[in-house]
Amino acid sequence: MKKRLREDYKEFKIERGVFDNITLMTLYELMNKGYFNEVSSIVKEGKESAIFLGKGKENVAIKIYRTHAIDFKTMWQYLIGDPRFTKIRKNRHHIAYQWCLREYKNLVIASEAGVSCPKPIIAKNNVLVMQFVGDEKPAPRLIDVDASRKDYLFILDQIKILLKADLVHGDLSAYNILYYEKPVLIDFSQATTLKNSIALELLKRDIENINSYFKKIGVKVKDSQKIYEKFLKMVKK
Ligand SMILES: Nc1ncnc2c1ncn2[C@@H]1O[C@H](COP(=O)(O)OP(=O)(O)OP(=O)(O)O)[C@@H](O)[C@H]1O
Ligand SMILES: [Mg+2]
Repeated sequence: MKKRLREDYKEFKIERGVFDNITLMTLYELMNKGYFNEVSSIVKEGKESAIFLGKGKENVAIKIYRTHAIDFKTMWQYLIGDPRFTKIRKNRHHIAYQWCLREYKNLVIASEAGVSCPKPIIAKNNVLVMQFVGDEKPAPRLIDVDASRKDYLFILDQIKILLKADLVHGDLSAYNILYYEKPVLIDFSQATTLKNSIALELLKRDIENINSYFKKIGVKVKDSQKIYEKFLKMVKK
């Protein structure tokens, strides 16, 4: 098991810059605590993170935020706009940890509110462990399936439930929704509270993104401005 992780480490350090020493220590610690027994295959490599399948009693998704080569300036700006994260140092590690913590906290709020999203398990430094959506492979994304009007309405409903829990996803698109029996919202690192001055702008963009996607695939959609206004009324009550 350890050997396997070391081999991955070498590979990723050189090729991808995901694992630094602290990340490796964090993975060992989480593994020793039993959150997973093995860091298995890489699921997806993004700009800000890499996602692995963690094997254990249950499969988990391990999202490792990069501490190198990412756009920290933008991340820092996004973070300090969130009243929950105002004291953010301009330090790469600190920013990556806070970004990871924010995704964890957002997932806690979302899943407690009953939103269809992966259940968060633990966040430590730049490593987030959550429920794996899919079986051995990740579930397809919304863009990879034949989505229906029912799915469209379901997603609008998830936005509404999130809003009631004082959260706006902020990066909602057919790429950040998986399909596992029903749509499952993922990638909550940008999600923010309504107290953030850009929250309503993000809400509007989320609605427009979802609307234009479904419109594009031929699903009858509601007027996005009307949805936005209806949702606003709901939160202002
Ligand atoms: N909980 C999960 N279960 C299964 N697969 C997941 C999970 N979370 C993420 N993934 C997989 O990893 C991909 C990227 O996840 P996510 O959007 O959270 O990361 P990201 O850093 O924003 O990547 P990108 O820059 O590509 O948007 C998803 O499309 C999905 O394939
Ligand atoms: Mg994403």
